Amino acid sequence: MSDFRVLSIQSHVVHGYVGNKSATFPLQVHGFEVDAINSVQFSNHTGYGHWKGQVLNSNELTDLYEGLKLNQINNYTHLLTGYVGSESFLEEVVNVLSDLKKVNPNLVFVCDPVMGDNGKFYVPESLLPVYRDKLLPLAYIITPNQFEAELLSGMKINSEQNAFEAMDILHNKGTKCVVITSSELGKDNTLVALGSFCNFGLSGNNHKLCIRMEIPKLPAVFTGTGDLFASLLLVWMQKHPNDLKLACEKTMSAVQAVLKRTLQEAQELAGPDNKPNSAQIELRLIKSMNDLLNPQEIMKSGSE
Ligand code: ATP
Ligand code: PLP
Ligand code: MG
Ligand code: NA
Ligand code: MG
Repeated sequence: MSDFRVLSIQSHVVHGYVGNKSATFPLQVHGFEVDAINSVQFSNHTGYGHWKGQVLNSNELTDLYEGLKLNQINNYTHLLTGYVGSESFLEEVVNVLSDLKKVNPNLVFVCDPVMGDNGKFYVPESLLPVYRDKLLPLAYIITPNQFEAELLSGMKINSEQNAFEAMDILHNKGTKCVVITSSELGKDNTLVALGSFCNFGLSGNNHKLCIRMEIPKLPAVFTGTGDLFASLLLVWMQKHPNDLKLACEKTMSAVQAVLKRTLQEAQELAGPDNKPNSAQIELRLIKSMNDLLNPQEIMKSGSE
């Protein structure tokens, strides 16, 4: 197997699993080298009652990248990006990406365009045009949720049919593979994930695959799941190139196995009838090593 080297630019938390803490271990168990740039370092994720820590600014990102470049250790096969909290930092990510592509023109960019959820932004709105106009055209895979897909495509999504129309708009911006990781388009108590792979052919002769997965909604709120999903999709798309269906099934199966173990243990800690707190419901990533490595294919997708 050739060596895969991922540069992952995401949050770090001392305790728990979001951002790089959620993405690094799954990549490493699959044999990928991971170099992590921590866009923030917080004591814990921001859903807890308290959190403390530091935010990396764009000059500090430039500095770290410059150090890699001076030693010529900036040769990566993949760039993975997650939550970024400021426009200037995201602009610097664009610069880093274009430089990485000079070193390795075949670099695979996996972009989780984290902006918000359920109709609400949790980053400044000024990040939207940077994702839409600068990063999407360079991304191989993007993993928006329903709200982010609406923002990036500029259209409201209220049916699966117009979700695929929105994904076509995103393909036309240059992204080969779009996975809407969660949407509220299905029945009650289910999440629907939709994927679209478009192999741009010569003379407009595009080959396209659309997939759909229905996930029974577990009765809890997890954090770090989007970051886990994106890292595993990177792995499985690398292992099964051009097979979005299989890659999504393995990714989703592993995520669901982690969440089931997490929920079961969290409920045991919280006691009957109590809602687990943030600390109790941290992802059981380490205990799930075998599921990350060899997911039992519990999730099946339909395709058209
Ligand atoms: P991001 O916020 O990173 O842009 P996102 O909103 O799509 O992405 P999540 O909603 O956390 O991220 O979803 C990622 C995956 O986690 C989903 O595809 C689903 O498999 C799983 N997931 C998250 N919450 C639940 C839940 N309550 N029940 C079942 N699966 C869940
Ligand atoms: N990064 C930080 C610092 C966070 O606090 C959170 C969520 O609270 C996340 C990332 C994202 O988690 P998720 O993958 O669930 O969207
Ligand atoms: Mg979500
Ligand atoms: Na997502
Ligand atoms: Mg997220």
